[in-house]
Order: sequence, then C-alpha cells, then structure tokens
Amino acid sequence: NTIIIASSHVVRARCLIAHPQTLPALFGLFRQGFLPRDTHIVGYARTKMDQAEFEKRATSNIKGADDPETANQIEAFKQRLSYVSGGYEDGESFDKLNTHLQEIESHYQSKECNRIFYLALPPTVFIPVSQHIKEHCYVSKGGVNRIIIEKPFGKDLESARHLLLDETFRIDHYLGKEMVKNLLVLRFANVAMGACWDKNYISNVQITFKEPFGTEGRGGYFDEFGIIRDVIQNHLLQVLTILTMERPDIRDEKVKVLRSIPPVEKEDTLLGQYVSANGKPGYLDDHTVPPNSVCPTYAATTLWIHNPRWEGVPFILKAGKALNEAKVEVRIQFKDVTQGIFKDIARNELVIRIQPSEAVYLKMNAKTPGLYTRAIPTEMDLTYKRRFTEAKIPEAYESLILDTLRGDHSNFVRHDELDYAWKIFTPILHWIDGKNGQRPKPSPYPYGSRGPKELDGFIKKYGYKRADDAYFWPVTNMA
Ligand code: BG6
Repeated sequence: NTIIIASSHVVRARCLIAHPQTLPALFGLFRQGFLPRDTHIVGYARTKMDQAEFEKRATSNIKGADDPETANQIEAFKQRLSYVSGGYEDGESFDKLNTHLQEIESHYQSKECNRIFYLALPPTVFIPVSQHIKEHCYVSKGGVNRIIIEKPFGKDLESARHLLLDETFRIDHYLGKEMVKNLLVLRFANVAMGACWDKNYISNVQITFKEPFGTEGRGGYFDEFGIIRDVIQNHLLQVLTILTMERPDIRDEKVKVLRSIPPVEKEDTLLGQYVSANGKPGYLDDHTVPPNSVCPTYAATTLWIHNPRWEGVPFILKAGKALNEAKVEVRIQFKDVTQGIFKDIARNELVIRIQPSEAVYLKMNAKTPGLYTRAIPTEMDLTYKRRFTEAKIPEAYESLILDTLRGDHSNFVRHDELDYAWKIFTPILHWIDGKNGQRPKPSPYPYGSRGPKELDGFIKKYGYKRADDAYFWPVTNMA
C-alpha cells in the first residue's frame, strides 16, 4: 500500500505538510499496528526538500517524542517515508511521482498494490490534480485507488458541484470523533433514550462549538469562508444529522434528514465578529484580514426539520472563534414536567460533550436529601476519563484514515449529502457575502467573551430555559 499525501501549505498557515493531524494520525495507526506492514507514505508538494527535511516536518507534530519508546517508533516510522516535489498542473510531475511509486512497489513480491491519494489542497487545484492522478498515477492491475479530499468542498452549491468525483472519500473529521460516533450507540442501543427522542419530549436542541482563540494569522483563509462555511455547514450539520436521522443505513438516512430542512432564514441567524479586549487582538487586527472586513467569526443559526419526528423543534447551531472557552457539545433540552406537584422546576437536559473531556450527562431533578421534600437539579454523569480509565480515545483522523484503508465509506460525506448541505446554507451565505445587496454587519463581541450580547435573547426566543444559576456541572473543568 502506498499513501500519497499531496499538500499545499499555502492555505493552512499552521501546518507543515497536510493537516497538522494527518501525519500524527498515520503514526498513531503505525504504532498501534493498524497500518498494514508494507505501507509507505509519500509526501508530494511544490516545495523542494530533501529526505531529512521531510522526515523532520512529517514527524514534528507527533506528541510525546521525548519518551524513548516513542522516539524509537518515530525512527521506525521514518523508514516508511519519502518525498517527491512537483507541480499540480503538469503531467510530467505526476509521471515522476508515478515512477517513484513504482520503484517503491517493485521491492514487494505482492502483485497487488493499492494507492491512497490524500489531497490536502485548495479546491482550485483539486480538479487538475485528481485528473492528473487518474491519468498518470492510478495502479492499473489489481489493487485499488482511492482519493481522500479535505474541505472546503466548494463555497456554495454551484462550486461544490464541480467537485463531485467518484472514488472520493470526503473527510469531515467530526465524523471520526469518538463522541460523534457514540451518538448512534446512545440513540439506538438504549430503549430509554430512543423513547423520548422526538418533538413530544424535546423542546429545543443546541449544538455548540467554541474556540478560545482567534484566527491568529490564518485570517486570509478564514476571511474568504467565514464561520458558517468553516464549521457550521459541515461539522455541526453532521452532528445534527446523526442526532436526528432514522435507522438503519447511515448515509441514506442522513440525506433524508437534510432534505427535510429548508434553507436557513435571515431571521433565524445571529452574526458576530470579535473585537480586541483584555490585551487580545480583534479580528480586524489580524494583518492577514482585509481592512473593514465584515466576515462573521461567530454565528448562531436555527434549523427546522419538517418531518413527523421533529416538526417544530428548533435546532440551534452555534459556533465562534475567540470565545471564553474551548468546548463542543450537544445540549438537548426536554419539555417542562406537568405542573401541579412541582412549580418552576429545572428542565431535564441531556448533554453530550464532544470535546474536551468527553462525557454524557443527564441533568435531572432529585429530592434534596433531608427531612423535607424539595427537588434539586443534579445529574447522572458518564465522564469518560473517570469511567473508562484505561481507554485510549482514538484521534478522529486515525479512525477515518483506517476506514479509508478498509474501503468503508460510511463515515465520509456522500456527494448528494454535500449537495443538500449546501442547499440549506447557500441563500444565507449569499446574503452574508452581499450577493444581492449590502453585506450585513456582524455584532461585535469582546475577545474571550461568551459571544454577541444578543445571544441569550436569541436562544430564549426558541424556547430555551436557562437553569437555575446555582446549578453547575461539577466536572466541567476536569482536564
Ligand atoms: C477545522 C476548521 O475544520 O476544524 C478550524 O477549519 C477549526 O477553523 C477546526 O479550528 C476544529 O477542529 P477540532 O477537531 O479542533 O474541533
């Protein structure tokens, strides 16, 4: 097997070659014995560099390299690496790559060679590169060829349609996250959960993504896309579809949910942009951001699913950069209990903490211990670090690259799914881009805050009831 990683380091300033997690994930699979024995990894990019430099870059993001055992494994991993430099637009470069691959493969007796092409490239070159790969680098006899591509998959419906190639594994790394995969088990392996999973019991759902840092020099890329394209249209929408789909075929059912969601309305959208606070720079202070940009770094959008299970339940997707904490979670708020015995009692909430500190907890009311009857909000708590003390939670990229090696498409984005996902967001994105008039101005929020000041009112509008301020989840800050 050969895994060819074609990468441009122009788009993503933070990474040296490919996504910062791609090579560490391959290393993770290698050290755990999941990478087939005769697998080689070939880097391909325009930059000229020798073997030593490539080895250095390819292993620089691996954690724990000061541990002697890891260091030994890194040395062994380096034996699997090589590098070819070449362009994206000319056939000869790809012939050169092909010769390099044949040379590696000639050392093996096996007649079957498989090649995986991982394109960590800007969308403008996906198409020429995949055409050249098909013409010059596909193995012809036996063996399989697979292409992995990373987002952005276009900028809207129209541009995404040009990218609909076959044999392609479109990575959305949220589909490789342990707690996102867990959603299916929680829902379909528990009668108690399945029984209340609909509009009769659920009042509203929030899917939240918070990052405590800003664009930090990556503003050039970000400004062209904005937070909705960067995180909401892909990662959070994936979480939403898995949360709401029916059984059993994952990809078919996800598409059905997406088809029941109408395009997001302006009235259901709140936009924000962070400004300088407490010595931290604002978005517009990032020198890679165009002056006076109105690109949203925060967005809350509410989606509605018109099907019998979910009619009337608001799904609020919120994402922002430069906020007060790092957190991704799903928060399902149930309806009020029948009034009568209890008044003003907190609502049940099921929270699935995707990261950090993976957990599932159910906020519920119990009797306050003591000689009187009073209800107090408390929780049933499954915090992974406490319950599964020995478990190693795989990295998203490890899990997805392994799926590609095995040819399993279920955790990748199918072309019709991508099409429907864009249909939901294209009108609002065109409005934000100013296609039909003036661009809307995002509401400013201070770096390190919870988001725009309109946020609480926005969520309340969809029926979310904030719990008693005295309640807090005791393990929230467990590292
Ligand atoms: C990427 C976005 O797809 O996801 C980034 O482009 C974002 O802006 C990242 O930071 C978040 O991924 P994770 O795994 O850190 O939640």
